[in-house]
Amino acid sequence: MVYAPLTRCRALGTVPCKAAQTYYRQRTVKSGLLLTEATCINPQAHGYPNTPGLYTEAQLAAWKPIVNAVHKAGGIFFAQLWHVGRASHSVYQPDNTPPVGPSAIAIPASQPCMLPDTSMTAYPVPRELTKEEIQGIVKDYADAAHNAVEAGFDGVEIHSANGYLIEQFLRQTSNHRSDEYGGSIPNRCRFCLEVAEAVTAKVGAAKVGIRLSPYNTFLQDGLDEDGVELMMYLVKELAKLKLLYLHCIEPRSSTGHVDVEPPPDQTLLPFRKAWPGAFLAAGGFTKPLGDEAIKDGAVDLVVFGRWWLANPDLPERFVEGAALNKYDRKTFYSPDPVKGYTDYPFLDQIKPGTPTRTHYSGTKIYA
Ligand SMILES: Cc1cc2nc3c(=O)[nH]c(=O)nc-3n(C[C@H](O)[C@H](O)[C@H](O)COP(=O)(O)O)c2cc1C
Repeated sequence: MVYAPLTRCRALGTVPCKAAQTYYRQRTVKSGLLLTEATCINPQAHGYPNTPGLYTEAQLAAWKPIVNAVHKAGGIFFAQLWHVGRASHSVYQPDNTPPVGPSAIAIPASQPCMLPDTSMTAYPVPRELTKEEIQGIVKDYADAAHNAVEAGFDGVEIHSANGYLIEQFLRQTSNHRSDEYGGSIPNRCRFCLEVAEAVTAKVGAAKVGIRLSPYNTFLQDGLDEDGVELMMYLVKELAKLKLLYLHCIEPRSSTGHVDVEPPPDQTLLPFRKAWPGAFLAAGGFTKPLGDEAIKDGAVDLVVFGRWWLANPDLPERFVEGAALNKYDRKTFYSPDPVKGYTDYPFLDQIKPGTPTRTHYSGTKIYA
């Protein structure tokens, strides 16, 4: 079981909050892998309120005790490296300039942008990055990876999923470039591979994983016709770099946080087969689905997000077949350092006899 990367919008500006020490420690199991919330590689990488970074002294100083808390509890902790690209707004950008992307194409208005006061607005048209800027961002990924290791993290995960900058380069609908970063499959994969190479060169392949969402439509305008072919090319090229793991998002989770029944031809199996190393999958897993995926050899490790967020002792509950706390969406991204963050009860804090309801998977949930 792996703890999923989960943005919680609790940072103090761009500096991780102190309560994160408790939050991550509560979810640590001995020898278990935890991924941080997506963490920005430079000031331009932000697109949500109160998300942390890995590019200033103050951020590194705040991460160190969080990493120590996880290590003390016996956990393995990787930082997820993030640049949102066009999924931002001038309010989050240095000097209030427009956000950047592979091309000057906005995210469809049907998918709104959250402002710092949590009101919603349309995403603006981004400014197209120059080739020199792209090289600068590749370097920023490598520097952030270096900083992560400096702060004590055991490794990094490159966030190349969910419609953010790297995926914006991969997709035809968001990348209309006519230079070597756009057009053909190898060209659209170039930025991702350059980031993976630079990060690997900086901290070593044994400390690097990558997250891909082959069927993602979140912050995107549908799927590309050559999407599976592109992902297959990308996975094979990434395999040459001997990264520690590949982490894919299940098609049932393709629209973000909602589980939908995927078309039968959408499956992660081809990527699992093409990947020689450890294969992680996330998205809509319950205990029975996770057990099945492990038994079938469909995955090596199952990544849990929402259930683990709401159940700090999720592994223990699975072992005991115990009921689960319900997750509260209202506090996913609220700034409160306690409510919905560190106050989900452990099993021994729940009064016996509390009524439960049953999830479709058969899991009992505290109502
Ligand atoms: C509150 C919340 C925040 C999330 N933040 C991130 C993130 O920072 N990085 C990322 O790659 N995915 C993020 N995701 C997606 C999760 O990592 C995961 O893929 C998704 O929740 C599906 O898994 P689950 O069904 O076990 O929750 C987020 C999801 C939720 C619910």
